[in-house]
Amino acid sequence: MSANATAAARIVPGVVSAPSNGERSHRRLMLALYTVAIAINLAIFIYGFDYYKLSAMDRPFSPKHHLLRPSGTIGIYLGFLGVALFLGIFLYPLRKHWPWLATIGSTRHWLDIHILMGLTAPFIIAFHSTLKFRGIAGMAFWIMFAVSASGVVGRYLYGQIPRKVTTAELSMKELHEMQEQLGQQLSAQNLLPEADLRALLKLPNEQWVKRLPIVIAIPYMIALDMLRMFRVARLRRHALRGVALLSTVAGFLPTRHRELERAIQAASAEASLSKRILFLSRSQKVFHMWHVVHKPFSYAFAVLAVIHIALQFVLGYF
Ligand code: HEM
Repeated sequence: MSANATAAARIVPGVVSAPSNGERSHRRLMLALYTVAIAINLAIFIYGFDYYKLSAMDRPFSPKHHLLRPSGTIGIYLGFLGVALFLGIFLYPLRKHWPWLATIGSTRHWLDIHILMGLTAPFIIAFHSTLKFRGIAGMAFWIMFAVSASGVVGRYLYGQIPRKVTTAELSMKELHEMQEQLGQQLSAQNLLPEADLRALLKLPNEQWVKRLPIVIAIPYMIALDMLRMFRVARLRRHALRGVALLSTVAGFLPTRHRELERAIQAASAEASLSKRILFLSRSQKVFHMWHVVHKPFSYAFAVLAVIHIALQFVLGYF
């Protein structure tokens, strides 16, 4: 692999070069875990549908009541699973404070697991509560739901902030050189129109971005990400003809043309990285504000969940 491709792969893993073995097995693991999580939730939903839609008065007469109620045979295990997920979610923040844990695996992989558990837990807890959200447990559930939903925004912002700005700037330079080289080769073959490449790399003025209010800057960043998808599709549309074009669904799917894809991916990675660097101060500011919400709400939810579990002990459910 050339130095340029190495740099590009470092910043945008798997985009320009093939992902490493470790990365590939992590992706396979995540795919398997998401499949299991979706399958479990779907199975409970399908099995319990006729029970969950009954009113609280009618539920005790359902043959599934002794299984699905919160203290029932299945319901209680859903509660245990919820607690396990809840403990797992907090391993990610704890890892920052426990040096021995920090040496295991990479932070990004831990975050992927944190997200999987954070997205699954609200569904499992909702089924454990039989979709009735009352009292302390109900309050804990809604806080958890809000924390989980806010996590999606946090994940977007997290991806916008290069871990090391100097490395990112260096890699952007290398990506630019690589993109230019490949672009020139393909332009010579009349495959990549210069104008489309320039459009893909076009960004607003730095001073203008600095003056943008935060509430506009973030949706604007998202809009630029979406626009990039359309610009990439246009590049492919202008480079391909006939069946090759049809098979890419108007340019939205990658082609089998390796050189063309490498050039497009390098240009797209460069465009994405320049945008992240351009908006860095804005995304850092919002990410900081986001932490201020995500963290204390998580702890509030944890306290309410512990009170709920302690109450079940007091009431003799264990
Ligand atoms: C019940 C669900 C969740 C709880 C209780 C929870 C809790 C936490 C806590 C305590 C932190 C550490 C905050 C800090 O160090 O300042 C954190 C970080 C984070 N969480 Fe969650 N989270 C949940 C779900 C999610 C979901 C669903 C996502 C994404 C879709 C997500 C994305 C993130 C991100 C991006 C970070 C910041 C990573 C970093 O700065 O290192 N979380 N979460």
